[in-house]
Amino acid sequence: MENFVYFIGDKTIGEVAVIDPAWDVKLLQDEAKKNNLKIKAVLVTHGHFDHTNGVEELLRTLDIPVYINEKEADFFKFDWGKENVKRTKSSEKLKIGNIEIEFVHTPGHTPGSQCFLIHNNLVSGDTLFINGCGRCDLPGGNAEQMFDTICNKLMKMPDDMLIFPGHNYADKKHDDLKNQKKTNPFMQYDNLMSFLGRRMPKLN
Ligand SMILES: [Fe+2]
Repeated sequence: MENFVYFIGDKTIGEVAVIDPAWDVKLLQDEAKKNNLKIKAVLVTHGHFDHTNGVEELLRTLDIPVYINEKEADFFKFDWGKENVKRTKSSEKLKIGNIEIEFVHTPGHTPGSQCFLIHNNLVSGDTLFINGCGRCDLPGGNAEQMFDTICNKLMKMPDDMLIFPGHNYADKKHDDLKNQKKTNPFMQYDNLMSFLGRRMPKLN
């Protein structure tokens, strides 16, 4: 599946949040240790197994908050412990040291998918891939919402923003939004019906 897991944080104090901890928690913890980083929080782009299957294991050794969009928490009903789960809404912010992370609700792939905005960088989970976007035919997916997310949120973000997706599905690991606006096939539509024809072809 080639998931990306990100550390986002403040190098000067050596504190980070880990985004979508999954698959190999020991490797994540070893990497943090090697780089003298303390993991202070978990951020979840969305609830799918391949992005969240390390959360429970991580919480066994670290008593840290897990930030998940409120709609995603309601939909997936994870059993991560009430004390640790922090339900997020769009536009809310979290600070790790001096680094500010803004939560952006981007439904479509799942009801409570969220992206993380850090300065001019967007960690986009399975909402936007390099030259792709997340499936909308899985439970909780909604192609109309995805169209709205792309047109009314992502297309309106600045061209020089860097996109860091949730999977390594392309020949590059990140890209600027200016380029994605030109080359990403799912960013080329200005009407819903033609977008649906591309994203949900079986329905047409
Ligand atoms: Fe997903």
